[in-house]
Amino acid sequence: MKTTINELAVFTNGSDENKAIIFVHGFPYDHRMWNAQIEELSKNYYCVSYDIRGLGESPAGDGQFTIEMFVDDLEYIIDKLRLDRPVLCGLSMGGYISLRAIERMENKFSGLILCDTKASADNNAVKIKRAGAIKKINREGLNPFVDEFVRNCFGDDFVRDHKEEYDRVVSHSKENYPEGVKGCLLAMAARTDTTSYLSKIAIPVLLICGEEDKLTPPDVMMSMADKIHTAEFVVVEKAGHMTPVENSKEVNKHIYNFLKNSI
Ligand code: MLT
Repeated sequence: MKTTINELAVFTNGSDENKAIIFVHGFPYDHRMWNAQIEELSKNYYCVSYDIRGLGESPAGDGQFTIEMFVDDLEYIIDKLRLDRPVLCGLSMGGYISLRAIERMENKFSGLILCDTKASADNNAVKIKRAGAIKKINREGLNPFVDEFVRNCFGDDFVRDHKEEYDRVVSHSKENYPEGVKGCLLAMAARTDTTSYLSKIAIPVLLICGEEDKLTPPDVMMSMADKIHTAEFVVVEKAGHMTPVENSKEVNKHIYNFLKNSI
């Protein structure tokens, strides 16, 4: 079911009597990147996904975003839907938002699933790369940026063997408003570092990383997992940065086991 909360497009699947999981997508994607997880998990869980402000079906407004605003949006959705300590699941930028949400209000959640993400903030080189991306979008429009960025997120095997699905993700990403995409780039560049909170996390955490992830590789996620007392860390084969899309079967299995055994 689709609903609008605080201007944002929010999607619910499954019975609201079940334990809730709230999914936060990566950049420059939208809630549809979780389709394979939601199709499976909604049989036993109340699955809530939404489009982050500026992406998918949510409005870009003036494109002036911060991660704090994204966390405010997440909190608003949880309160509005009266979710009782949902499990939070975020990929990459969705992971930055999730980690900051946990740092701000861990008691609102019963578990955390981090896919292909990191706790550190952007270093100077990455900030300069983000500035270059904004310049490229201003000069050439959104499409060449999306072609390059999305290709880097996927492993070679997936692009070759699942061309239709890959092309669909690229074309969905090109539907975004350029203002929304640029606003997310600025928000990510200005985000805080959540590393110091990792050792304070008390709720169960599952970390998932694609073995071919070039953006947040397994060694980066492993060092995050080392700092979290409650962490379980898995590396998923045949996947790059978009693990839930590239190897949904394995990801679903890991999420199911985590929910069954730890939550
Ligand atoms: C994402 O997948 O959300 C992005 O790769 C995050 C980033 O650019 O830092």
